[in-house]
Amino acid sequence: MKVSAEVCPLCEGTGWKSLSIKSERRVTRCDCRLQARAHALLAGARIPKRYEHCELSNFESDGPHQQLASSRLAAGKFVEEYPVDSTGLLLIGSIGVGKTHLAVSLAIAAAESGRRVYYGTLVSLIESLEQARAAGQLARRLRVLSHPAILVVDEIGYMPVNRDGAVLFFQLINARYEHASTVLTSNKGFEEWGEILGDEVMAAALIDRLMHHCHVVNIRGNSYRMREHTDLWHAIQPKADEQPISPSRQTRRKEAKAH
Ligand SMILES: Nc1ncnc2c1ncn2[C@@H]1O[C@H](COP(=O)(O)OP(=O)(O)O)[C@@H](O)[C@H]1O
Ligand SMILES: [Mg+2]
Ligand SMILES: [Zn+2]
Repeated sequence: MKVSAEVCPLCEGTGWKSLSIKSERRVTRCDCRLQARAHALLAGARIPKRYEHCELSNFESDGPHQQLASSRLAAGKFVEEYPVDSTGLLLIGSIGVGKTHLAVSLAIAAAESGRRVYYGTLVSLIESLEQARAAGQLARRLRVLSHPAILVVDEIGYMPVNRDGAVLFFQLINARYEHASTVLTSNKGFEEWGEILGDEVMAAALIDRLMHHCHVVNIRGNSYRMREHTDLWHAIQPKADEQPISPSRQTRRKEAKAH
């Protein structure tokens, strides 16, 4: 008989493996099925390729990155306590501090434990809702987007949204907030959301909703990549006592701080 190389040796392709617990035999889902499910969930999550590597375990938060320790901790707490505590997260910080990395890590961890997750930037989610509305399918699309156990709404504030888009975003958050977790990222503090969303009242209502259903994590720190460059740059510079700091070095320090 020809045996396919792909047949799982644990369950021989049945998807179930038996366990003996205190001399009692039980069957449980085989690891191969759990992996296949996680794979399918990740494939449907629309996580951009450039973020597929993101995991909590490869998020650095010590040494030169210790300013990121509290956000790493908040993300770790989310993973540990989910779904008993399904409060979402809103990660706020400047560009490059690892907001998307953390948000995607949470989504990947949830998919690996068998949960449906979905990633979108604010702009792409609004676009898809606009398209659905034009096709008379808005309610359906909102229902679909309310299904994932975790929805990542990335990049709030990178591009302005008009009031109409903000209303759709508000509807999306409303459709989800009672029963599913939303993880959001923004490079803008709340005081700027009125401007981003084209409407102060809408922004205030949205912030109110999010404050009730998300932990807000302010990430302070320099851009992760910039940080690597500045460390490298300092390492190759002569020591300060060997040579006075030149104007160009002062300028570069200021530039590094600004990021
Ligand atoms: N603390 C970190 N440890 C490891 N990689 C990081 C860290 N912070 C950011 N990165 C990486 O740097 C890049 C930029 O981070 P990203 O999460 O996109 O930043 P943001 O969304 O805040 O602009 C990504 O490739 C990410 O994986
Ligand atoms: Mg990002
Ligand atoms: Zn198997």
